[in-house]
Amino acid sequence: MTSIRKLRESRREEALRRGINPRDVDLLLGDLLGRSLPWLISHGEEPADDVALDAMLARRYAGEPIQYIRGRSEFYGRDFYVDDRVLIPRPETELLVEAALDRAPHGARVIDVGTGSGCIALTLALERSDLRVLGIDKSINALSVAKRNRERLGANATLAASDLLDSIRTADVIVSNPPYIPAADVETLATEVRDFEPRIALTPGPLGTEAIERILDSAGNAIVLMEVGFGQEQSVREVATARGFTVDDFLNDLAGIPRVVVLSRDGE
Ligand SMILES: C[S@@+](CC[C@H](N)C(=O)[O-])C[C@H]1O[C@@H](n2cnc3c(N)ncnc32)[C@H](O)[C@@H]1O
Repeated sequence: MTSIRKLRESRREEALRRGINPRDVDLLLGDLLGRSLPWLISHGEEPADDVALDAMLARRYAGEPIQYIRGRSEFYGRDFYVDDRVLIPRPETELLVEAALDRAPHGARVIDVGTGSGCIALTLALERSDLRVLGIDKSINALSVAKRNRERLGANATLAASDLLDSIRTADVIVSNPPYIPAADVETLATEVRDFEPRIALTPGPLGTEAIERILDSAGNAIVLMEVGFGQEQSVREVATARGFTVDDFLNDLAGIPRVVVLSRDGE
């Protein structure tokens, strides 16, 4: 058996050679030992088992996202369980959550369409106990993950299966990070996304706007907040105004990309 220090040195070097962030070695080793990075550094001479770490690193070198290997991803300051049944929550989706927290009226009934890991629905429920939150997904597999997160985080939200809003009646606020990548573009995505994240979470069809259009068709008089894809601002404006919505806001993400659209029937 080798020491923590030697194991870290050799595996971090190998990670660099393979184009993987050496920090992943520390994260995985820390998870295996149940210890933080400062602890690993200050206990470098203690023995460490390389077999379990190498098994995890082999998955990483095969392109699997670090979040699936660790079984966790941070979102809005909380740890969500994730595996390959759900999209890994993205930082830009926190902007959608913030916009919904700002705009949802007190006591509003909120539906998160395409809840995946539950990161949006459960965060809204945890941050605003006055809201009545329902998260829906067509994928039963994704719902299992969302339910697991609901238990872990103790969130008061309902989770249900539905094909978009087909089996749902009304809501005051609809929030969604729908699949929005045009089908043909999926092949151009990074391996980590293309080969590991669920296809149903990535693309709704050839145009990319199919799910957005269907959500708007069923939205009634709800305020709608949606994350949209890179370069989709104009087409989303068009499909929304064609359905009688006013574009109240288009919020940029940290990279300056129009990312979250806020729609209502009459304007704010
Ligand atoms: C981009 S992911 C978003 C997941 C999560 N809300 C997030 O932001 O990380 C889209 C989600 O929509 C779900 N979905 C795709 N098509 C759907 C449909 N027709 N009806 C309901 N959910 C759908 C997928 O299963 C996936 O969980």
